[in-house]
Amino acid sequence: MARRPQRIFLVGLSGSGKSTVARLVAARLGWQALDTDVLVEEAVGLPVPEIFARWGEGRFRDLEAEALLRACQTSPAVVSTGGGILLRAVNRVAMFDSGLVVHLDAQPKTLVERLRREGIDYRPLLQGPDPLARLALLKAQRQGYYRLADCTIETDGLSPEEVAEAVLRAWEEAADVLADRRRVWRAAQEPVPEWPDATCVVRVASGSYPVYVEWACLDRLGELMAGLGLGGRAFVVSDGTVFAHHGERALTSLRQAGFDALHRTVPAGEASKTLDTAAALYTWLAENRAERGEAVVALGGGMVTDLAGFVAATYARGLPLIHVPTSLLAMVDAAIGGKVAVNLPQAKNMVGTFYQPKAVVCDVSTLRTLPRRELVSGWAEAIKHALIADGLLLERFETQAEAALALEPTVATALIARSVAIKAGVVGEDEREETGRRTILNYGHTVGHALESAGGYTSFLHGEAVAVGMMAAAEIGQRMGVTPPELVQRQRRLLERFGLPTRASGVPVEAVRRAMALDKKVRAGSLRWVLLEDVGRPVIRSDVPPAVVDAVLASVLDG
Ligand SMILES: NC(=O)c1ccc[n+]([C@@H]2O[C@H](COP(=O)([O-])OP(=O)(O)OC[C@H]3O[C@@H](n4cnc5c(N)ncnc54)[C@H](O)[C@@H]3O)[C@@H](O)[C@H]2O)c1
Ligand SMILES: [Zn+2]
Repeated sequence: MARRPQRIFLVGLSGSGKSTVARLVAARLGWQALDTDVLVEEAVGLPVPEIFARWGEGRFRDLEAEALLRACQTSPAVVSTGGGILLRAVNRVAMFDSGLVVHLDAQPKTLVERLRREGIDYRPLLQGPDPLARLALLKAQRQGYYRLADCTIETDGLSPEEVAEAVLRAWEEAADVLADRRRVWRAAQEPVPEWPDATCVVRVASGSYPVYVEWACLDRLGELMAGLGLGGRAFVVSDGTVFAHHGERALTSLRQAGFDALHRTVPAGEASKTLDTAAALYTWLAENRAERGEAVVALGGGMVTDLAGFVAATYARGLPLIHVPTSLLAMVDAAIGGKVAVNLPQAKNMVGTFYQPKAVVCDVSTLRTLPRRELVSGWAEAIKHALIADGLLLERFETQAEAALALEPTVATALIARSVAIKAGVVGEDEREETGRRTILNYGHTVGHALESAGGYTSFLHGEAVAVGMMAAAEIGQRMGVTPPELVQRQRRLLERFGLPTRASGVPVEAVRRAMALDKKVRAGSLRWVLLEDVGRPVIRSDVPPAVVDAVLASVLDG
């Protein structure tokens, strides 16, 4: 059972009774009651209407955001908030991250009556001849934001005590409410006693495992592995580039924890992901008489985690595997979920299996040496996870793009942690791609894969192709009446801010179409499109008319 949140935020229009109810709930729980309007007034020494009059709404919203951040650092507390607080993305992120958000709803008529009764008719937003019409308009405008709340209480006809009672009930059930609302990534973030400090857990039938996403946790690698009961020798596999940057740190950490650490590097690049390289690694393990129970440590990008993972899965019917991804793509994607493989000349990832690691250790600080283009490409997959599963993560990307790109430690670590948790959650629901749930991870990949293949795997990095593919999927969604046009534009703006392509040039439409047809043949079925009805609401459609696909391809490809 998840811990109940230690903060309750009450949101709603003026007259919904937030302050009164906050005091009542706080009294019942023995918590502190806070009011963001009061916090603002205290900070500047002026009443709210005066602040509006002197400096306008914009300044008030800035002060309100600061006040909210202070409230988010206080616990336990019941916080009543201004009616427009949810308008700002930073506020939404702050609230949803730190507590239960309860919406007190009421009909405009009820609101006006309450405001009159309480003599609170000075509210700046309610001035004018027709407060009822004004409130009805505000309600309509803000309904979309209020709908984001964890729960809504219809307060018409209820006394403040009755509303407080309902809030308390909502809080008591909060663990379930939150678990349901944020099911995908919450599931993965639910703590597990064996790994109390894990960032999240991949829960799969073949054995759950912890994922650590931290700044500088490569120095804890040995300690973390020892904590999992591993010991003896550790066989570190890396590529030459990654090993030059981070190899010594990994070996030192392993030796300090008592491991006898051996290592072997392969040339960097996809060309090493072959059966021949795998065979060379088998030989190395055999010459060193690697024994069952001794771990393979995959230190590198997705090429290394796929290759070393494949070797660990197959040598002596399986050696324990630890993934230490060092590229962003490997952290948020390749290292999570247990797919391991090598390429054949005929097709990528053709020889492979499912093999889950014992742990994944993502040291975000290793990304500082990753080439910029690889980093940007990796953010595309992380953004994809937000689009398919987590509106709040999407807002974070929108408000923190620059800090993410600059690898500001706190921001980058938090964004990656949440993105990893989404992948972990989806994998937990469909370990071996059997229930179809994992299909949603393919958002943007139908065209993305085809672009990569049409470009001979040299024109685009994976994330770049996926970014273009996500634009294609969004535009197809829009033409099918599935995806709202605002979402298409929102996605485009975000990808552009991260410096990701939203169109591709130099690739003939015909080549992409051929690659998609081949993909379809390999999968022996119809082309399946992951489309978005909204953020966090992917749907799978097999009925996209070829004419729609062609039109969209023509628009995203100019070649
Ligand atoms: N198993 C899965 O579910 C899955 C999912 C997605 C991708 N993949 C696979 O992952 C591979 C692509 O992953 P990738 O983009 O990480 O490729 P990669 O491993 O080839 O890394 C890309 C480049 O970055 C370098 N690099 C990595 N980390 C670095 C660091 N910290 N500092 C400096 N340089 C660094 C590498 O040496 C390489 O040159 C493909 O083989 C793909 O098939 C697998
Ligand atoms: Zn991908």
